[in-house]
Amino acid sequence: MRNYLGAFGHVAIDHIVTLRRLPRPNTSIEILGRRRSFGGTAGNLSRAAACLGVKTSLASFVGEDFPSDYRKALRKDGVDLTDLRPIRGATTPTAWIFSDSAGNQMAIIDQGPMKEGVRLPILRHSVVDVELVHLGTGRPQYYIRIARLAAELDRTIAFDPSQEIHYVYTPRLFRTLLRHTAYFFGNEAEIIQAKRFLRVTSTEGLLRFAPVVIVTLGSRGSAVHTRDGKIRIPRVPSTRVADVTGAGDAYRAGFYAGLSRGFDLRHCGILGSSVASFVVEAQGTQTHLPTWTQAVQRARKYAPF
Ligand SMILES: Nc1ncnc2c1ncn2[C@@H]1O[C@H](COP(=O)(O)OP(=O)(O)OP(=O)(O)O)[C@@H](O)[C@H]1O
Ligand SMILES: [Mg+2]
Repeated sequence: MRNYLGAFGHVAIDHIVTLRRLPRPNTSIEILGRRRSFGGTAGNLSRAAACLGVKTSLASFVGEDFPSDYRKALRKDGVDLTDLRPIRGATTPTAWIFSDSAGNQMAIIDQGPMKEGVRLPILRHSVVDVELVHLGTGRPQYYIRIARLAAELDRTIAFDPSQEIHYVYTPRLFRTLLRHTAYFFGNEAEIIQAKRFLRVTSTEGLLRFAPVVIVTLGSRGSAVHTRDGKIRIPRVPSTRVADVTGAGDAYRAGFYAGLSRGFDLRHCGILGSSVASFVVEAQGTQTHLPTWTQAVQRARKYAPF
């Protein structure tokens, strides 16, 4: 098997624009500043995982316009790009994020080819040649096809719909995917939505569908729920908090780095916290990624490695 992780999800360009205030319709406004950054859940995850030494295949659809600097950055960190697939005539997923000084935000998203559910080709290499298939953001109908192939081949499936759980899933699609899942990830709001879909009242209720449920709790850390009980994972303090976006993807990268090296769930959670603690220290989601040695150094305070 060539890789440990097959990471399905978005690879996107984010344009972050800061404004004094958000403009009303039919008015114009000057920007205070802007920056362009590499993003998308699968882009973030695969780069963070690769930096930790996890052999990772990135599976995603972009446009013919996919920027070469992003491709180079992924390649330099060792991500397997066989399944990073440009679609003819499509534009790369792009987000324009506007925020003002009061903390209000507006986002405009071009899904590019990622909005297709059924016509997209199966990216086989990221299922066949991996041990763990991570299904992140993207269309459920497509991921049901991926999950079927993964199940046939006896691959481990992790399911992480992220914020898309709130607007692209139906109870039926969600349940279908969760039934194939070994590791389900979500933050608190996403777990509430998952419980609503399945009509269960507790996080333990989700364990009837998936054996391990990982709930991230922002600066309060995380919890790993299993059928044998709940493991509380502390957060790992960061030297400063500059930008918390991407903490979730970073946590997953650390968690998988632990799994790939055979650590137990508690160690995996602590590694997740550790990697996230680096990512929040700088603006952007891929600008401050630790190596395995750096991640372990911070994690060691909480468990022996
Ligand atoms: N301020 C912080 N300091 C240290 N660690 C943090 C902080 N915020 C988040 N983390 C770590 O990152 C993990 C994931 O964060 P969180 O629960 O906010 O994910 P999320 O809501 O999916 O975020 P996003 O989608 O923006 O990446 C947490 O479990 C925690 O370990
Ligand atoms: Mg998230």
